[in-house]
Amino acid sequence: MQTLTVKTRSHEETRSVAERLGRALRGGEVLALCGDLGAGKTTFVQGLAAGMGVRSRVTSPTFILINEHLAENGLRLVHVDAYRLAEQATLADAATFGLTDLLTGPDGDERTVLAIEWADRIAALLPADLLRIELVIDLEEPDARTIRLTATGERSAEALHSLPIA
Ligand SMILES: Nc1ncnc2c1ncn2[C@@H]1O[C@H](COP(=O)(O)OP(=O)(O)OP(=O)(O)O)[C@@H](O)[C@H]1O
Ligand SMILES: [Mg+2]
Repeated sequence: MQTLTVKTRSHEETRSVAERLGRALRGGEVLALCGDLGAGKTTFVQGLAAGMGVRSRVTSPTFILINEHLAENGLRLVHVDAYRLAEQATLADAATFGLTDLLTGPDGDERTVLAIEWADRIAALLPADLLRIELVIDLEEPDARTIRLTATGERSAEALHSLPIA
């Protein structure tokens, strides 16, 4: 298990960290985003998309649970928001939304990057190798976030290693 902790002091800084990660992704990575409401999960996915060369707008999905974006390099960004799922979603809940297929089926392929907000809600469904991205709001500085990135397997560790953060 490998961890990297970064502190950002603005929305733009979080975006820029995510953008650098986005450039390092090769496909097949699963990113599990965790953190309170407004912590910056969607902001992170927006930066990630920019780094991957996604042109379409990444929004915070209100009713839609899953959004797909094609990147210029042929990768596909699948953006999932599990907020609307029950506190501890079951396999049946996830199947209803087509999530199980994304995680285990042919869709979860080598060209796809899966970024999941509120990933803790579907913890039981997630693969063993993932990059956990935890965003914590600073109590003293309202625009500061501590971002802890933890790789739990080979592929996620590779992505973490190629993240050029000085
Ligand atoms: N350092 C920072 N990093 C990221 N966002 C920040 C930072 N400082 C302030 N913000 C603000 O915090 C908000 C983060 O919103 P965002 O939608 O990304 O959060 P979220 O975690 O996706 O929320 P939700 O749980 O509702 O999905 C934005 O309004 C952003 O401008
Ligand atoms: Mg969000």
